[in-house]
Amino acid sequence: MTAEPHSRRSVLTAGAAVAGAAVGAVALSACGTSGSAATPGSKNAQPAPAPGQPLVALADVPVGEAKAAKGPDGSDIVVARTAENTAAAFSAICTHQGCTVAPQGAELKCPCHGSVFDALTGAVKNGPAKQPLPPVKVRVDNGQIVTG
Ligand code: FES
Repeated sequence: MTAEPHSRRSVLTAGAAVAGAAVGAVALSACGTSGSAATPGSKNAQPAPAPGQPLVALADVPVGEAKAAKGPDGSDIVVARTAENTAAAFSAICTHQGCTVAPQGAELKCPCHGSVFDALTGAVKNGPAKQPLPPVKVRVDNGQIVTG
């Protein structure tokens, strides 16, 4: 027996891990830039809405809760009122297997397998989802929650 096939597999596995990390780094840096276009064909691509597009009236979202909304591109998002005059938004697409989460008070619940997310941060409160909901940039402008 030789160790070569095993070591070749190890090299390939390591290479795939490095490639995956590189893709993750690109995705992260894309999120950190000012609304650059999402990577075509990426399953986790996030909308890059034009700034200033109205999403929900601030008064329609109770403080500490969220409402379902549509992004300017028609994507499902949730818009949360994090305080009297601040807001946050997230993709409504569950990071487990892609169902659409629904706001329920301070939580976002996935109807498919029961994942629960924090409505104000997008963080996972209960799995099976392991990743938080990706943020969508928004701001409050003249009584409206608008794309940022
Ligand atoms: S798709 Fe949401 S918990 Fe499975």
